[in-house]
Amino acid sequence: MSPLLTVIVPTLNERPNIRPLLAKLDQALAGVAWEAIFVDDASQDGTPDEVAAVAAERPNVRLIERVGRRGLSSACIEGMLASTAKLVAVIDGDLQHDESILPRMLAAFAADSALDLAIGSRFVPGGGVGEWSAGRLTVSRFASQLGRLVLPVPLADPMSGFFMLRREVARRLAPRLSARGYKILLDLVATAGPGVKLVEIPYTFRDRQAGESKLSSRVVLDYLIMLADRLVGQWVPIRFVLFVAMGMVGLTFHLAVLGLFHVLVGQGFRPAQFIAAGTAMTVNYFLNNAVTYRDQRKQGAALLRGLVVFYLLCSAGLYINLEVAGSAFDKGAAWWFAGTLGALVGALWNFAVNTAFNWRVQA
Ligand code: GDD
Ligand code: MN
Repeated sequence: MSPLLTVIVPTLNERPNIRPLLAKLDQALAGVAWEAIFVDDASQDGTPDEVAAVAAERPNVRLIERVGRRGLSSACIEGMLASTAKLVAVIDGDLQHDESILPRMLAAFAADSALDLAIGSRFVPGGGVGEWSAGRLTVSRFASQLGRLVLPVPLADPMSGFFMLRREVARRLAPRLSARGYKILLDLVATAGPGVKLVEIPYTFRDRQAGESKLSSRVVLDYLIMLADRLVGQWVPIRFVLFVAMGMVGLTFHLAVLGLFHVLVGQGFRPAQFIAAGTAMTVNYFLNNAVTYRDQRKQGAALLRGLVVFYLLCSAGLYINLEVAGSAFDKGAAWWFAGTLGALVGALWNFAVNTAFNWRVQA
């Protein structure tokens, strides 16, 4: 029989925290029918083995193991969809969220059948963040402000990763979630729209005792991409927006190199355009891998293999580029205009073939 509550715990290298967390949940949820689902993204420290060992001892612990890192938000979504309980909660696996407010969240749902979400909040009266530096507080505040751009309702702590919702609501929203990055709550609320009914319950964010934080600089970019997706994704595919943005950077490189060789060094236009295009293409390869195709980014040997494929696929684009730019230049166009024109036509080709063959979007 399904429990009342599923507690979803996303984990990445949290082995020493598994048993202490379960002990705390046992205490906080005494008398409640609940289960825990750990969603692990191929931790290297034996986290899944630890969860499996605990699960062998007790009936209310389950494990979802995923291979190939796919991020915090999607881990939470998979956990929610694996539940059959009436309510699902998400809590960090590192003891930083105060599980003792879970009964208050449950009580909020018991008192109001129309409630969609109960959120553990650090920024309503009674909540707090422990010993955070001024810098970390500022970053968190700034990120929250940005988050408000996409929020349909006021929310004091949109960056919270600690909340409870009705599973039916999660199921209904799941197909429309951005699922990028790590701000799953923001994603849920933004997708739910202005009709969403939520309540914030204060708690104090604890300092981490064991293991280390995984959410560093890389997640800042994930967050910005998710916001951009939320803001403009319904009109333009965010991948194309990112591709164009990276293309602008590439074009800047292109013109700088072209200017350097053609104007300063006095190199002929076509050879200079060739060198410039080669440089810009290489810069663009790494930029696109890190940003545009971030969700499928290549690393190590695959990154180099991808570069070779990229050069092969782009060689036709480069040929078109040189033809277009060269003939424009011959007809009297300024070097920078001819150079840009060639680069744009070449880039269009490169986007099409690389999306189709290199970073192929897996279904
Ligand atoms: N499955 C999975 N996959 N789990 C992950 C991943 C991932 O890619 N990245 C992080 N986790 C797990 C961690 O193991 C931990 O249990 C939890 O997600 C949060 O990661 P931390 O690295 O501890 O993040 P934090 O302390 O900087 O931020 C957390 O607290 C903030 C404040 O409430 C996160 O929950 C934020 O979402 C939250 O806003
Ligand atoms: Mn943490």
